[in-house]
Amino acid sequence: MRIVLLGAPGAGKGTIAKLLTDYDGSVQISTGDILRGAVKAGTELGKKAQGYMDRGELVPDSLIMEIMESRLQEPDCKKGFLLDGFPRTIPQADALKKMLQKLNLKLDLVANIEVPKEVILDRLTTRRTCSNANCQEIYNIKSKPPTPDGKCKKCGSPVIQRADETVEAITKRLETYNEKTAPLIDYYRKEGFLKIIASTSSDEVVSGIKKAIKGKSAE
Ligand code: AP5
Repeated sequence: MRIVLLGAPGAGKGTIAKLLTDYDGSVQISTGDILRGAVKAGTELGKKAQGYMDRGELVPDSLIMEIMESRLQEPDCKKGFLLDGFPRTIPQADALKKMLQKLNLKLDLVANIEVPKEVILDRLTTRRTCSNANCQEIYNIKSKPPTPDGKCKKCGSPVIQRADETVEAITKRLETYNEKTAPLIDYYRKEGFLKIIASTSSDEVVSGIKKAIKGKSAE
């Protein structure tokens, strides 16, 4: 599968990407995870990105393109990829189109996960994430809790709340999404890749994506 997962912060892109990876081995590429890993490791990229991320703003397109240009050429992408959090602006979508043309690859689908705003706010304030940069398993204190002593069930590392999970940063991230990322819905509708999946159930979203992919390959 070569899929773009679109959706507001908290719509469940990361959760769905992890479920789809388990299904067919397509690799999850989360620009958010890559950036958080860089911040934690204190790299130049992390130093440049941290302020934007903590404020809930987008990191400049040029930094993201640099990351994605090389990431899409890594060998694990041959099995397919699930783009989680990229593209996020029209210039990023244009750049992705060019990158894929250069690599002679085609997207199968752009899935826009739609979840009501009140569900999103609740999910973002109750999310917890594994602090191990190589794991980053996603938890939720209500729907998918970590161990009782706050450890990751996969790797045993402490599970933490992200730095951009303050009320101010969440509000800013939702505003930024509406202004910069939501226009991608129309962009991909025009390109003929869009599938809207409105559901708060991860199982329904995953089966909707699988069905849409099967429908596409039968066309
Ligand atoms: P990023 O990490 O991509 O954050 P985001 O888009 O705001 O998305 P989230 O990770 O918050 O949510 P999600 O949709 O993945 O939901 P999740 O599965 O975790 O980006 C962070 C920052 O990095 C950005 O603000 C920006 O600064 C920068 N950045 C990243 N990419 C960039 C780019 N391309 N360009 C520029 N800047 C970029 O689920 C949320 C919660 O809900 C979890 O607790 C989960 O357990 C729970 N949940 C999920 N599904 C269900 C369900 N069905 N039922 C119950 N609970 C559920």
